[in-house]
Formats: sequence, structure tokens, C-alpha cells
Amino acid sequence: MRILVINGPNLNLLGIREPDIYGKEDYNSLLRQIADHAGEIGVDAQFFQSNHEGAIVDAIQNAYFDAVDGIVINPAAYTHTSVAIADALKAVALPAVEVHISQVEKREAFRQTSYVRDCVLATVSGQGFAGYLQAIDILKAHLEEKAHESGI
Ligand code: DQA
Repeated sequence: MRILVINGPNLNLLGIREPDIYGKEDYNSLLRQIADHAGEIGVDAQFFQSNHEGAIVDAIQNAYFDAVDGIVINPAAYTHTSVAIADALKAVALPAVEVHISQVEKREAFRQTSYVRDCVLATVSGQGFAGYLQAIDILKAHLEEKAHESGI
């Protein structure tokens, strides 16, 4: 089972960026925690981070062409602005889970819109780095259920 974990703009600055909101641990620590958890449950996690909207669209399309099984995505600020990323998720129709490190529901009004929410199985918000691990678990359970239904 292959899952692509996509992180959007400024998430490469975890640890530096507003540590009171996003924590003190850096991006590499996030990747390690996800890779460890994925390894423990038999998931092959691959990673992509970009500060550029089009590059994220390309990564979503490539996930389809590379036959990735599912996507975990934190589109960061593009959550609240990007029709292109939402359209890409709809286009490839891969199972996807949206993650936010902070509890966006309790933050500014402009963060209350998510263009991707209608394109994902679930949204995990406000759980810190652990939210990504939960997202992997949700995707794995979904993919296993689908495989069971189709008798694989
Ligand atoms: C974020 C929340 C977004 O509103 C913000 O723009 C981010 C990170 C989060 O992980 O909490 O960059 O997606």
C-alpha cells in the first residue's frame, strides 16, 4: 500500500515557523514520525513538499500516473484559496485525507473555508503531527475495506 504525503507552503519551515501554533519540531522530524508509523503498519509512505501551487497539482496528477493508493494532504494556505488543488484531487479521484496541524476551526475567519474538504474522505485538524498518523490510519482502513469489498 503506497501513500503519498503532500505538504504545502511554509510547512518546510516547521520548527521555525510560529512554534506556538505549529510546534517546535521540524519538517524532517515530521517525516520521520510518519515514516516510522507507516512502516509499523506496513504502509509505504512517500513525501512531497512544495511552496508552489502548480507543483502540488503536478504531484497529485503524478500520484495517479504512478498508481499511488492514496493521498494525505496538508495544502497549508492553499486550503483556503486553491480551486486548482481541489480540481486535481477530484480529477484523480484517489482516496485522500486532509490534515491541519493547528485547529483551523478555532482560528481566523479566512481559514474557515476549505476548497479541498469536499474532495477528501476525512479531515484531521488540531492534532499536531499526530494528525498525519491518524490520516494514514484512516486511509489504510479505507483501502483495506475497499479491497475486502472487491474480494482482493
Ligand atoms: C495549516 C493551517 C493553514 O491555515 C495554514 O495556512 C498553514 C498550515 C495547518 O497545518 O494547521 O500553513 O494547514
